[in-house]
Amino acid sequence: MLDLMRHATHDENRQGESFAPFAEDPNEYGKKFYIESYGCQMNFADSEIVASILNESGFGATRNYEEADLVLLNTCSIREKAEQTVRKRLTEFRKMKKQRPGVLVGVLGCMAERLKSKFLEEEQLVDLVVGPDAYRSLPGLIVEAEEGQKGVNVLLSREETYADISPVRLESNGVSAFVSIMRGCNNMCSFCVVPFTRGRERSRDAESIIKECEALFNSGYREVTLLGQNVDSYYWDPLQAVQSQNNNANPAQDAVTFAKLLERVARISPLLRVRFSTSHPKDITDEVLLTMSRHENICKYIHLPVQSGSNRILQLMNRTYTREWYLAKVNRIKELMPDCGISSDIIAGFCTETDEDHLDTLNLMESCGYDMSYMFFYSERPGTLAQRRYKDDIPESVKKKRLDEIVKLQNRLSLKSNQSDLGKTFKVLIEGDSKKSDGDWMGRSTQNKVVVFSKNGSNHKKGDYVHVKVTSCTGATLLGEMI
Ligand code: SAH
Ligand code: SF4
Ligand code: F3S
Repeated sequence: MLDLMRHATHDENRQGESFAPFAEDPNEYGKKFYIESYGCQMNFADSEIVASILNESGFGATRNYEEADLVLLNTCSIREKAEQTVRKRLTEFRKMKKQRPGVLVGVLGCMAERLKSKFLEEEQLVDLVVGPDAYRSLPGLIVEAEEGQKGVNVLLSREETYADISPVRLESNGVSAFVSIMRGCNNMCSFCVVPFTRGRERSRDAESIIKECEALFNSGYREVTLLGQNVDSYYWDPLQAVQSQNNNANPAQDAVTFAKLLERVARISPLLRVRFSTSHPKDITDEVLLTMSRHENICKYIHLPVQSGSNRILQLMNRTYTREWYLAKVNRIKELMPDCGISSDIIAGFCTETDEDHLDTLNLMESCGYDMSYMFFYSERPGTLAQRRYKDDIPESVKKKRLDEIVKLQNRLSLKSNQSDLGKTFKVLIEGDSKKSDGDWMGRSTQNKVVVFSKNGSNHKKGDYVHVKVTSCTGATLLGEMI
């Protein structure tokens, strides 16, 4: 599932995937919960926080919603389609609730935050509406809902980071894990709903991040991905933490920037791979790039969303960089790390986008030679700057045509990038069996490319590093042989 998320190449793929968590023995708990997650990796990571909070209050996870006492949807609002998917799912749950009126249905995450108590009016079957900063209040709200009182808590916080909560790893491959390092976003990209659904940006206590990563490594994990909407603005100031009465804070320590945090996580063990997402082109620093280049185990892969290749559109989007600035960043990355993989997010058909603007995007994609991109057509979101200021004036047929051209170009670029790896040897971290055959392993190169190769009777296991020589490829996968 996460594999899909990381390698999606068109609009529908990034949201709409879902998973049901699996408790080793749900019967050790009195009650059962079922959770489905949509949206970005941070939302999936939040579901693991929610699972931990629910375990503490006597709910064990089940994969089967039909046997659950509590059914939760952790939702996404990024595009209209993401919200439609959730609405459809709720229709299915309505049928279930007719048969089992006692079951509680809760909506969590960004759509809960956006729609607030409106959800209770619109969707009669929903009992709980809980926003991303209010998960600690879930146990209390559940008790109230069990007594027949519907509950809403969508308060956003300036401090909440769930730093002290150990996530329960759901559907994990036991090799790679996601670790939230910050929450919220202070940027105001005009198309984006995230600042409204996730609130102000705040960084999580660095010590708690290091501890979580160490614990993951000690229990066999070999890769952590540090998550934030804008990781480059991570900043943890121990002095400030002392002032706000955080007992774990040590005022004698220096403030921690993202580069310092990366370095500390990388030092846990050379066997622990470190990844991060998402970088903002305006904020990624030389210090981060130099730290990456110094540590072999910090993966040589940067997701650097450009959104558009046209300066006029970038300005309307309030991205605060130009095409030239962006291209200079890409050049700097390639200069310091010639083998670094780069991927992007691209929006087709933003307000007022002309054919010429669109050509600028295609042309920038070509210049950057992206290894991979997530591509979307613009979806107007209520309350955003763009919705208030600009007309969503590009006809859907034009948006789709442009998106199609972008996807076709990316497919060509991905294939070209993979073909240039033919004959090369990569260090691959084994993540598990390949989807198509359990005679093959699937893993990733440092550039985040999926590599599939025959087990060939060897006694390697998940979490091992092996060297694989690439012998053939598709646009999405490298195929090779262990050496
Ligand atoms: N914080 C990240 C992105 C978070 S949202 C960043 O700044 O890059 C993930 C992606 O969804 C965005 O990069 C953007 O490409 C896309 N997106 C966000 N809002 C959108 C909208 N209204 N319509 C279409 N795509 C959107
Ligand atoms: Fe949205 Fe921009 Fe923040 Fe990313 S940086 S979450 S696109 S507002
Ligand atoms: Fe969606 Fe919220 Fe993430 S809107 S993309 S789940 S931050």
